[in-house]
Amino acid sequence: MSIAWFDPPRAHPRLQHHALGIAFRHVLMPASGTYGYGEEFAGLYDLRWLGALVTKATTQTPRLGNGTPRVAETPSGMLNAIGLENPGVEVVVERILPTVAAYGVPIIVNVAGSDEDEYVEVVRALNASPHVRAIELNISCPNVKAGGMHFGADATAAARLTEKVKRESRVPVIVKLSPNVTDIVEVARAVERAGADALSLINTVVGMTIDIRLRRPHLWNTTGGLSGPAIRPIALSHVYRVYPHVSVPIIGVGGIAGAEDVIAFILAGAELVQIGTAHFVDPYVIPRIVHRLPELLDALGVEHIHELLGRAHPDEVLEAKQVKNGRRAVLSGPDQSADKAHAAEHAAVRAGERTRSWD
Ligand SMILES: Cc1cc2nc3c(=O)[nH]c(=O)nc-3n(C[C@H](O)[C@H](O)[C@H](O)COP(=O)(O)O)c2cc1C
Repeated sequence: MSIAWFDPPRAHPRLQHHALGIAFRHVLMPASGTYGYGEEFAGLYDLRWLGALVTKATTQTPRLGNGTPRVAETPSGMLNAIGLENPGVEVVVERILPTVAAYGVPIIVNVAGSDEDEYVEVVRALNASPHVRAIELNISCPNVKAGGMHFGADATAAARLTEKVKRESRVPVIVKLSPNVTDIVEVARAVERAGADALSLINTVVGMTIDIRLRRPHLWNTTGGLSGPAIRPIALSHVYRVYPHVSVPIIGVGGIAGAEDVIAFILAGAELVQIGTAHFVDPYVIPRIVHRLPELLDALGVEHIHELLGRAHPDEVLEAKQVKNGRRAVLSGPDQSADKAHAAEHAAVRAGERTRSWD
């Protein structure tokens, strides 16, 4: 089916979502660093096809990033070691955000720094912009010597930074976690206790390739961050593991490339999802998935995508989440009785009495 990419997108009642004080048109947004600040993509299609725009990491001063080569292909994925190249927060606030705001899509700014003070300074500078709806704290970049993953790898350091940033930020704070840790649940709980409003899971997985003729690592930085479909099972398992232990929304990211992948992340417990590396294969991937999802929801027998939220978990987990989250409607959807019917179906399927209608 052809899609008129240049037309403004229609409303997506079956995919829309409210979280972080933002009315998301739908649950999909680009992952930081794979979409720039949106300007190149605005030449391809109307950015209102996005649920939100997530920017490249922004630091206090401009950064040139690492030396080259900074990317390498791997089976079902890629390695990158860009090293947080960006024009610095002043340019972002004064020049880039006012331009991008004109596209009419909620903006989430990804924030990075070498130490706590730099993170806090960037957040203070962003407070001056009326265009920022949330910040995503990148405590998980594996490609810089100072900051980044060093915060994300330690629950205490991650929590302290989150607390400091929360004290400063006038908008909700999403904390983006690293998969390169022993226990991601411990870090997730620590940053939630420190005030994080949401969690993004996951950043890239540390990896490397070696040029056997040169007998040297391919990447200038030696190691890089692995992304793309190769890490999808890792990302999915982290979302699934963290979901029962936190009350804040989870944003799933890692290897998502199609509508089926989106559904898998929602079933694991992600309220929203981000798409990164897939943009390098198909720059139209988000509008294409948004276009395809309603057909898939029909096939799965649900009206709203969030009827599937967390549904890959056992019933005890879903019940506990409802209690834990108090008034927050985790099992959202237009009709709670539909939820009950689904819970019953879930139980029946588990008990082996029935197969799902879409099996
Ligand atoms: C080229 C490239 C640059 C990235 N830059 C950032 C960044 O600036 N900040 C950040 O938090 N994550 C960054 N990431 C990580 C992605 O946002 C995402 O978490 C990761 O790639 C997994 O998703 P994917 O498999 O869909 O790409 C980058 C990833 C790639 C491939």
